[in-house]
Amino acid sequence: MSIAEKFVSMEYGPAPEDPKEAQLWLDRHGRKFSHFIGGEWHTPEAGEYFDTVDPSTGDKLASVAQGSSADIDAAVRAAQAASPNWRALKPHLRARYLYNLARLVQKHSRLLAVLETMDNGKPIRESRDIDIPLVARHFYYHAGWAQLLNQEFPEHEPCGVVGQIIPWNFPLLMLAWKIAPALATGNTVVLKPAEFTPLTALAFAGLCQEAGVPAGVVNIVTGDGSTGEALVKHPDVDKIAFTGSTEVGRAIRAATASSHKRLSLELGGKSPFIVFDDADLDSAVEGLVDGIWFNQGQVCCAGSRLLMHESIAEVLLSKIRDRMNTLRIGPPLDKAIDIGAIVARVQLERIERMVAQGIAEGATCWQPQVVLPSRGFYFPPTILSNVHPTSIVAQQEIFGPVLAAMTFRTPKEAVELANNTVYGLASCVWSENINVALHVAAQIKAGVVWVNCTNLFDAACGFGGYRESGYGREGGREGLLEYMEPKWFKRAPKLAAALAPPHSESQEMADSSPPLIDRTVKLYIGGKQARPDSGYSMEVRSRDGTLLGEASLGNRKDIRNAVEAARKAESWAKATAHNRAQVLYYCAENLALRSEEIARRLASAVGAEQAKREVELGIERIFSYAAWADKFDGAVHNPPFRNISIAMNERIGTVGVICPSETPLLGFLSLAMPLLAAGNTVIAVPSERYPLIAADLYQLFDTSDLPGGAINIVTGYVSQLLKPLAEHDDIDAIWCYGDDATVASANAMSTGNLKQVWTNEGRAIDWFDPSIAEGRWFLEHATQVKNIWVPYGE
Ligand code: NAI
Repeated sequence: MSIAEKFVSMEYGPAPEDPKEAQLWLDRHGRKFSHFIGGEWHTPEAGEYFDTVDPSTGDKLASVAQGSSADIDAAVRAAQAASPNWRALKPHLRARYLYNLARLVQKHSRLLAVLETMDNGKPIRESRDIDIPLVARHFYYHAGWAQLLNQEFPEHEPCGVVGQIIPWNFPLLMLAWKIAPALATGNTVVLKPAEFTPLTALAFAGLCQEAGVPAGVVNIVTGDGSTGEALVKHPDVDKIAFTGSTEVGRAIRAATASSHKRLSLELGGKSPFIVFDDADLDSAVEGLVDGIWFNQGQVCCAGSRLLMHESIAEVLLSKIRDRMNTLRIGPPLDKAIDIGAIVARVQLERIERMVAQGIAEGATCWQPQVVLPSRGFYFPPTILSNVHPTSIVAQQEIFGPVLAAMTFRTPKEAVELANNTVYGLASCVWSENINVALHVAAQIKAGVVWVNCTNLFDAACGFGGYRESGYGREGGREGLLEYMEPKWFKRAPKLAAALAPPHSESQEMADSSPPLIDRTVKLYIGGKQARPDSGYSMEVRSRDGTLLGEASLGNRKDIRNAVEAARKAESWAKATAHNRAQVLYYCAENLALRSEEIARRLASAVGAEQAKREVELGIERIFSYAAWADKFDGAVHNPPFRNISIAMNERIGTVGVICPSETPLLGFLSLAMPLLAAGNTVIAVPSERYPLIAADLYQLFDTSDLPGGAINIVTGYVSQLLKPLAEHDDIDAIWCYGDDATVASANAMSTGNLKQVWTNEGRAIDWFDPSIAEGRWFLEHATQVKNIWVPYGE
């Protein structure tokens, strides 16, 4: 074709990025890589290796060590050995190492970008302009936190040895998201990259050597799922941070349930991309290109569900098809390519299978006429329209360049459809009406909402999910908290195993057989006293065995009723922070008015002195959270784009609480009040030792203008109530304060629905010490951060 002809046709010529440096780098390592342990290359104990291939051709790039449990053990030992010095290092020095790493990432950015594209198949344009610059930004940002750590978190310490498992879609970026905050906060790390994409992690090991990072602070062990499993199960790992599929996240949850490993999970998504009729449709289409065709759609937060206002659906679909016709698919090292290769054959087959299933379920499939390269793993950009909201392609993560389109009529319906998923990672809202956009953003259950933009990330803005998309955040201040805990916590003694409460033959609450003592405390559900479904009660005795009264024996049905009441208590969730503060102050006032009688009754269970202190401090505790209710604000971040990101501390939702046994009043208030202050609704199981406290509590709540259902109290045996709480899908989190066995049960029972569980790890908390038992730590667990990105400028 002549230049003149090209000028007319405007065809792209090839613009390949030169892979020479990356090839030389592979050659320098003999195309064979060992693990990086204790600052050195470490031959795998079992001597096994596997191939990593270039998905754009299927050709082998190098062989990589398959990690065994012996390799994981060696890496954990190295991390343990390095831990004391690293955590004791002056934060400024840790900051310097992180800063060096950031500089080195920039210095080697071209090599890293090319290597990433060769190993993963993503377009060089993306690895060069997005992945690698963000990697550098993460290290710079966290170098800053390392510098400020002692001023900003004086009462915290690192978790210790952290095991990190990452996926293949953003190999080096996920490494940075994991390693930078862990190192900044003084942890040492064993990281396992994904088996399809280990190369940039190994290149990063070289950067650690170049930066002089002390041996053992960063260890990289390559391998498949079995290597990850060995890391998860290693007894000397203090925390696991995982990004990957929900299925593996669930397996990790189950494997760590009976350990006290901290866990953060960033899992799958099926994120809605909502376009209102007043949106700038051309911009929305460009947003969609980034939303679903970025990285071949292999993005956990991909905008994979297009929700269109019915009136503009046809126009929008036609614009999308036009744009899809211009997307260029081909060899990812070509600088003018939009869509590269799928990471592996198995992933390609999975995409093909799901699309076929979607079509079988009635979806209409449209793909542009493109010629796919003859070698390698490619899938064309695809749009499925007429998708039913319950279809597999509307519900399950496809993790490929496939968009499922649906329509809605009203903003309310848009929100319902958006939230009609087990996931809650991200979402996009397109509307020129900022009121509508922000109103909808507030109602979407997702950790990130992009208004009129999509797939923007920054180290300063936390990222993470709701529901089965996982929990914990990466980035921002909240991301650091995942790698630290209060200094006192691990030093707190273990609680003695709870004595089995006297499980007397239950008394039927039949009118014909009056209870021994004329006082049977009922349940408190939806603002009303309620008889238990079982019709049974439990005896409550003092330490010397005197019968103090009877409490209702709640069961699964009562928990269900309580959840229903809590879900209906919308007015509490919607109340202003000022209103919530007023109600809590009123509670404190009423407790003060009745303090003597409450203390007198409580004294029969815990002694006069403790009872008096519990009541006095209880009043103070409520006051504290009334004070906090309108002060636990979020933040506004200034990422390096023309955006602000509004980081809101959102309530978690409905929370089930197992209250500590040892301090019936103060323990209850210490857990219920931060949850209420943050706008959650609560189902609390009060102290098993003295459940009669419920009667005093519900009088308190009744007289304090707390809306019915905001707090519900179900008395009974924890062993019977924990399971229905943990398994109920409409309970968003469990706070469980008990002995080791109770805590392990709470973790194990809520694995199925991946519920967030926060526990005392079986430790005795000094509820009488306000420096421990109240404040930010509790509020941070009573909320989750949602980042709403809002652009500015024309
Ligand atoms: P995966 O969840 O199996 O792999 C992620 C990481 O976990 C890899 O490093 C893997 O070796 C490791 N792993 C696997 N089994 C493990 C175990 N039992 N214990 C500890 N670590 C283990 O993801 P996979 O198989 O690569 O992809 C399958 C699907 O998962 C994809 O089609 C996609 O839908 C989803 N996915 C989601 C990601 C996200 O960021 N949300 C990332 C990768 C995959």
